[in-house]
Amino acid sequence: MIGAGLIGLGIAYELARRGADVRVIDAREPGGAASWAGAGMLAPYTESIAGPYEAFCARSLALYPAFVEELRERGGIDARLRLDGILEVAYDRGEVARLRGRVEALAARGIAARYLDREATLRLEPALGGDILGAALCEAEGCVDNRRLGRALRAACAALDVPIDAHAGDVALEADARRVLGVRGPAGFVPATHVVNAAGAWAGALAGVPASSRVPIVPVKGQMLALAMPRAFVHRTLWAPGAYLVPRDDGRLLVGATVEDAGFDVRVTARGVRALLDAALRALPALGDLAVAETWAGLRPGSPDGLPFLGETATSGYFVAAGHYRNGILLTPATAVAIADAVEGKRDASLAAFSPQRVPAGEHAAHDLGAKEAV
Ligand code: GLY
Repeated sequence: MIGAGLIGLGIAYELARRGADVRVIDAREPGGAASWAGAGMLAPYTESIAGPYEAFCARSLALYPAFVEELRERGGIDARLRLDGILEVAYDRGEVARLRGRVEALAARGIAARYLDREATLRLEPALGGDILGAALCEAEGCVDNRRLGRALRAACAALDVPIDAHAGDVALEADARRVLGVRGPAGFVPATHVVNAAGAWAGALAGVPASSRVPIVPVKGQMLALAMPRAFVHRTLWAPGAYLVPRDDGRLLVGATVEDAGFDVRVTARGVRALLDAALRALPALGDLAVAETWAGLRPGSPDGLPFLGETATSGYFVAAGHYRNGILLTPATAVAIADAVEGKRDASLAAFSPQRVPAGEHAAHDLGAKEAV
């Protein structure tokens, strides 16, 4: 396994619990990068995903409770899953109509969601204010503490004796004309019958990959910040134009995130912080008195068509699990099962849209969503 982010650790854990001999190699800190930087929203519907991708995201959401519980039992760390809904607020009539339409469409499919007028919205979240007209509550969604999830996965992998080589430096794939041979890094050559590239925003740059098996992954920067909030200031995840706000049990309120085409730059900028705070203050006017506790930036792995690459490449034994863009935390459990199945030779026709052997159309995902816009 190359990459010890949530995706790589999730696959390693799933393979190990099925009895495979697994080793994880990461150039950097395990559970770092996007896995650490994200807010942990589990939002297949609020993220406005469509088609087979929505179905895969929903499949992963359904796996989450058992996944988090199993990791807690195996390694002793609770990733604090909360499925108490995501509340998306509207400031104008056009947004109200869009949210009402989405709630009706979701409810018609049996997905728990309802529209709330201004009074009902403020009863749920009294700190919301200003010019809010109403909100959509998607009760099926929620969030997980992604930093704790990284620790939970590492502990569960340790319980299964999965070695994790951290700070391994630059590694390269070794393959002949037909199939994978292993991974070479500063510490030497590790032979392997199967190699999974789960290197997140760096997955497209893995050295030694034959041209026919490369995937076009690009980094998409997201800046975030955390505020120290009083108890019960916000109860659940909020989604407003320009920012989402995710409360943590430790008293931090996460505010994210910019979407920027900035290469591997992870600086926190004045423009980025201002955009997030402007949007957050509009939703929660009392937030202006809260202390800024932390700022950071991470790199999402973007793909040209906005879909992940999941499965075996043209090089036999070389698999890719990357390009999850905004949904890597949500997709960790389903990706783990899908890649473990693929390594075992099981085919899942419903995942054909995500084949690494497809030729993806379009520019990369940041362009689709409007680079340099928040949320
Ligand atoms: N999943 C939210 C984001 O990528 O900003």
